[in-house]
Amino acid sequence: MDIHFHDYLEAKFALDERSLNPDVKTEFARWVSGQPRVTCLDLGTGTGASVRRLLNLVTEADLHITAVDRDPTLLGIAQERMADLLRHRGFDVSAEPTGIRARQSSHEISIDFVCSDLQHFAPNQAPASFDAVITHAVMDLLPLRTMAERIARWLRPKGLFYSTINYDGETALFPVYRDEDFESRILALYDTSMEERRVWDENSGGARSGRRLHRILGETGFEPIAYGSSDWNITPLRRTYYRDRDAVCLTALLNMIRDEAIQSGQFPKEALDQWHRERSERLETRELGLIIHQIDVLAEKV
Ligand SMILES: C[S@@+](CC[C@H](N)C(=O)[O-])C[C@H]1O[C@@H](n2cnc3c(N)ncnc32)[C@H](O)[C@@H]1O
Repeated sequence: MDIHFHDYLEAKFALDERSLNPDVKTEFARWVSGQPRVTCLDLGTGTGASVRRLLNLVTEADLHITAVDRDPTLLGIAQERMADLLRHRGFDVSAEPTGIRARQSSHEISIDFVCSDLQHFAPNQAPASFDAVITHAVMDLLPLRTMAERIARWLRPKGLFYSTINYDGETALFPVYRDEDFESRILALYDTSMEERRVWDENSGGARSGRRLHRILGETGFEPIAYGSSDWNITPLRRTYYRDRDAVCLTALLNMIRDEAIQSGQFPKEALDQWHRERSERLETRELGLIIHQIDVLAEKV
């Protein structure tokens, strides 16, 4: 079964919620709750998961978010969802040329949606003026040092960079496949293809974006405040059910792994089809599990 990318992004919202590192999130939440007004950049917004998360965290402060993504369809969905959410919470929401404005008595929230590749993105705000920058499941796709340097320029002194769900080089399927070596090679190829990805003539964060980001932040004007794992445990319970919409995530991830292997041309098609069929059957019988290692980092601009 094919899963549209926007469905996959929506399906993983609850999985991400349970996976976020609690200590790193608490530090960010504590900082946010002490601010009277927060201006925030969300890079690689997709359908708006991080914006929604921020709206859940910031309940008192006025909030101005700039949400950036290069995909207009995803941003359109994000804008619609955010407007619905704020209306549902009793805000008076109006559409503006740049995004949405929401007001509830003296509490004001504005979200600007910017459709741009991050390579060419420049915020419509003075340098060193953002309170926070957030990225979620994005840094593996971007050149880390270039992005860290830019984010350091956009943030005000003592502003925070909260970067979550950064892939960190370990994907394991359960139970072990009958041809363990075959599956190990497919998964290794998935990582290798991330490692070989070039963006803007540079290496992307790649398969170890979590630990690399942690190192690079220390070299680009940030002081790490907290970091920790945010692994996805997409595992069945009692061999009876998957939590939330994990079965959709698992289906989408199996497809991505298979498609990457097909594209490489390194595996016989019949063996890949057989692997995908057997893994999908294990999913149907609530036996298949997938654990993916990821890192969250919270760092302060020095
Ligand atoms: C894995 S998705 C994560 C989306 C969202 N943060 C979430 O977790 O639901 C990565 C997002 O980054 C966006 N993206 C990737 N590279 C980008 C670039 N160079 N410029 C702008 N957006 C980019 C994609 O369009 C996609 O929406």
